[in-house]
Amino acid sequence: MSEWLNRFRTFLAKRSGVALDADKLYFVESRLQSLAQQYGMASAEDLFARIEKSGDPVLESEIIQALLTNETFFFRDRIPFDHFRNVVLPHLVEARAAKRHIRIWCAAASTGQEPYSLAMILDEEARRLAGWRVEILATDLSEQALETARQGVYTQFEVQRGLPINQLLRYFHREGDRWRVAEHLRARVQFRQFNLLSDFQPLGAFDVIFCRNVLLYFDLDLRRKVLNRLVGAMAPDGYLALGATESVVGICDRLEPHPKHQSICTRRDTIASPPVALARPALKLISGGS
Ligand SMILES: C[S@@+](CC[C@H](N)C(=O)[O-])C[C@H]1O[C@@H](n2cnc3c(N)ncnc32)[C@H](O)[C@@H]1O
Repeated sequence: MSEWLNRFRTFLAKRSGVALDADKLYFVESRLQSLAQQYGMASAEDLFARIEKSGDPVLESEIIQALLTNETFFFRDRIPFDHFRNVVLPHLVEARAAKRHIRIWCAAASTGQEPYSLAMILDEEARRLAGWRVEILATDLSEQALETARQGVYTQFEVQRGLPINQLLRYFHREGDRWRVAEHLRARVQFRQFNLLSDFQPLGAFDVIFCRNVLLYFDLDLRRKVLNRLVGAMAPDGYLALGATESVVGICDRLEPHPKHQSICTRRDTIASPPVALARPALKLISGGS
């Protein structure tokens, strides 16, 4: 492996947490090629040499963003969203009845499909949330992805991935060959750049955290650190949803995975466990389990 690719791997891991496998390094050159051209450089290696020399923060951020994988789609994997609607929300409606305030964090929101999926569910559950304040904070390291998320404009291909037709027609309107998310849905989500390597404390505590399909890019040690910090950012009866292939087992024993769906976790150190049923339960059942 070229020496510069080794240094690049260290640079990327330090800034973003993303740990590239040695056998994936070939794609660094192809991903950076067009950026190199934009900057009048012959190769990705020359582009990186410029960063090493000048430390230009704008170029640095562009290079990192070019390497991040922003793959996402509406209602991805379905189960965490069904669980949110059928179990988490009824529990929170009861448990937070006094303050009527719920805080949700999408911690690697990419281009916005995940927070907008949650916003659609909240809109559909508006009757039971009348008079409530429900915040959705959507963060990501990539400013470019967040810009797309803020715009809320998606291609036909993007809306066809995971979004049922009735929700497409209800929450989006056509603009040429694209679809724009309805303003009232967009207004439900606050977008902000945030690096998962930084301190979570300023963000406060959350009732629900979706941190999906990002920890898999980190090495084991960093996954453990971030999971522990996520626990610190969860309300005692809060929920954490990870990606379908991600798990806390053997990494963070402060989290209890759902018996059937390992990617949905609650805090183990909580005095009373929140409910784990997945079918749409009656509210009474929920209050009995919380
Ligand atoms: C594969 S996408 C997952 C999007 C969405 N959560 C989902 O599951 O569909 C991973 C996202 O993590 C973001 N990311 C990578 N490293 C990050 C970091 N250190 N802090 C915050 N976001 C990061 C990337 O920019 C990307 O948008």
